[in-house]
Amino acid sequence: MVEINRTRLEELFARERTTFDESHPASKAAYAAAEHLFGRVPMTWMNKKAGSFPVYFESAKGNRLRDIDGNEYIDFALGDTGAMAGHSAPEVVAAVTRRISEQGGLTTMLPTEDAEWVGAELTRRFGMDRWSFSLTATDANRWVIRLVRALTGRSKILFHSYCYHGSVDESLIVVGPDGQSMSRPGNVGEPVDVLETSRVAEFNDLAALEAELKNGDVAAVLIEPALTNIGIVLPEPGYHYGVRQLTRKYGALLIVDETHTFSAGYGGATRAWNLEPDIVVIGKAIGGGIPTGAYGLSAEFAAEALDRDDLDLIDMGGVGGTLAGNPLSVAAMRATLEHVLTEEAFEGMIATCTLFVDGMNVLFEKYELPWSIAQLGARCEYRFATPYPRNGGESNAAADGDLEDFLHLYLANRGIMLTPFHNMALMCPTTTVEDVAVHHLMFERAIKELLGHEV
Ligand SMILES: Cc1ncc(COP(=O)(O)O)c(C=O)c1O
Repeated sequence: MVEINRTRLEELFARERTTFDESHPASKAAYAAAEHLFGRVPMTWMNKKAGSFPVYFESAKGNRLRDIDGNEYIDFALGDTGAMAGHSAPEVVAAVTRRISEQGGLTTMLPTEDAEWVGAELTRRFGMDRWSFSLTATDANRWVIRLVRALTGRSKILFHSYCYHGSVDESLIVVGPDGQSMSRPGNVGEPVDVLETSRVAEFNDLAALEAELKNGDVAAVLIEPALTNIGIVLPEPGYHYGVRQLTRKYGALLIVDETHTFSAGYGGATRAWNLEPDIVVIGKAIGGGIPTGAYGLSAEFAAEALDRDDLDLIDMGGVGGTLAGNPLSVAAMRATLEHVLTEEAFEGMIATCTLFVDGMNVLFEKYELPWSIAQLGARCEYRFATPYPRNGGESNAAADGDLEDFLHLYLANRGIMLTPFHNMALMCPTTTVEDVAVHHLMFERAIKELLGHEV
């Protein structure tokens, strides 16, 4: 296995930074001029970038992006899943345009008939009986956490270490280096010590999960079926069966957050892997780019919540948002699910992703790189480790920020956009085999340069 020469990496990275600066003068100037924004960006996470400023984009269609300097990109980031349907899919554009300009009424706090269509379609795909909408997956997670605490009378939520479920206070917990649970490093202004609200276990570790559940205070286990925010960590055979057995044994509910794992298929990992959650949460992609989120409950659970006189689900009880379920997001969800992220579309996206993964494995082998790649349907992600890490802690330890930044910048300078948060590539319905080939061509050049081969 080869090792990366860190001096060469540093030199190449410096060269790529210069190229990036020179080919993105308008983005550079826009960032320098942004004096009234916190961190110079509309949202602080836009500062997660490989260059010294973010790329300012001008337009995006399908899987193509154009920045304000006129550079074009094949987009494998797709808004870190929000644009899994492709940017401005024509059917979504038509539906939201109809709602905005023909029908009108973007926020009324009144239902539209599209909502029941979307609820029924989510039931068909994910199997939950009753759906409610939010504007983000974060909010959907926050609201189900309140519901499960109220209905079980238990105080804690159990998470996987290095999970991500949005900016959810309870979820910012990890297994520390000494094996003890601790607040996630960087946790901003935690309202109470996270150990009071949460428990944590490593992914793929049923013994650790059971040890936590045994305490008898866990209302629900809230998980992604595969971790997707610390590389893609896939479940080992039998893991989900064990999770479900243990949650039932200890009276904890099982919440499955499909926000990213939706890539596994048209009914997410829940359908693809026959999971049996009590609650499903989803967001991002189902609105085709328009903000939305959703959670689905069993009929019994929904009825129980509605029957409880002490729970204010209608006004100020802590589960609600004025704009949630608005006609625009509901119209966008309907168009996305009915016409864009269909069963057939997933077949194509997954086949394209399989080609992506196969090609990367060939390159890893050819250049004897100790790297590995995991696939979750239409998305895949490589890690600088082999075999692929089997839990969040291991995957976190395998991170290599410098190498990752170099690859991101090298590819961006050659017209390929990867998500700045991961080495993740996501296929949308318009991603082609040719797009994958272009990525691999550029990736191979990056590797050759890194290893000091002739390019
Ligand atoms: C699994 C998962 N759940 C929830 C969220 C939060 O989504 P949002 O930012 O739309 O609230 C994310 C975001 O990356 C996520 O990956």
